[in-house]
Amino acid sequence: MPQTRPRRSALYMPGAKARALEKARTLPADALILDLEDAVGPSEKDAARRMVVEAVRAGGFGPREVTIRVNGLETPWGEEDLEAAAEARPDAVVIPKVDRPEDLAEAAARLDAAGAGEVALWAMMETPLGVLNAREIAAASRLACLVMGTNDLVKELGAEHTAERAEVATSLGICLLAARAHGLAILDGVYNAFKDREGLEAACRAGRAMGFDGKTLIHPDQLEAANRVFAPSDAELELARRQLTAFEETRAKGEAVAVVDGRIVENLHVETARALIAKADAIAKLEAGAA
Ligand code: COA
Ligand code: MG
Repeated sequence: MPQTRPRRSALYMPGAKARALEKARTLPADALILDLEDAVGPSEKDAARRMVVEAVRAGGFGPREVTIRVNGLETPWGEEDLEAAAEARPDAVVIPKVDRPEDLAEAAARLDAAGAGEVALWAMMETPLGVLNAREIAAASRLACLVMGTNDLVKELGAEHTAERAEVATSLGICLLAARAHGLAILDGVYNAFKDREGLEAACRAGRAMGFDGKTLIHPDQLEAANRVFAPSDAELELARRQLTAFEETRAKGEAVAVVDGRIVENLHVETARALIAKADAIAKLEAGAA
């Protein structure tokens, strides 16, 4: 079953852009991914690392989940990034280009050695090997969330981005299965055309229908659509409440199946309805805390 902590929107913020980091404390994002990896050029890596550590240590993010995306350990920056992340103590450290569970174990060991405490890990799923190893990766300890890196994946597959997303459908499905099998959250990849609102809306809807908890985003203008689409709508909540009432009445009569709006309501639908209501409550609580 999906998790209840809201992760409708996770906004990437380039670690070297002071203006973006400054906005992090006020933007309506459920999660922030302060990026040291691909949104930061080689000449800015050290400055970005310092700025991100300072920002996280300064706090003030309210209920927003704060994560740092480090460079991979195979790069010249990975080791120092992990040490800095240990010092900053975000809610989670996002590990890019995870190929196998050992990549996460190694990152965890380095974070431990640097005294990071109980920081969680998020794994970027963006390489063919990583997707094929999703089942083993998702079983890693301290892992809380899988993040689809669809831009890298499309590149590695030699594929092309299409509106229908057939090029990533298999990978998305495999990672969703792995995440749910191990009780993890999972976030969909970014929508690159950040000025195309209709396209983003459709991508969010498709992602939600597939089972994603939310979407990773690249621009603040994308937050509204993701927050709205990945939240239960009023109509959904109204239906969920009617399903619960109808099911209780059916149960009182000693029967197992209710009918609402011409559709059956069984045990499992009741669980889904309850989860939906719990999610809406969690979102309301988070939004009240962020205001
Ligand atoms: N996080 C926080 N703030 C952001 C932001 C982000 N990802 N992207 C833009 N903003 C801010 C800008 O700083 C600007 O703030 P201001 O008007 O208050 O000064 C405002 O939003 C409007 O920005 P805009 O001019 O529309 O965009 P831009 O041309 O400055 O930047 C991008 C466009 C795509 C380059 C930028 O959004 C970006 O770098 N996104 C992140 C990319 C990334 O992280 N990639 C790696 C993961 S795929
Ligand atoms: Mg990537």
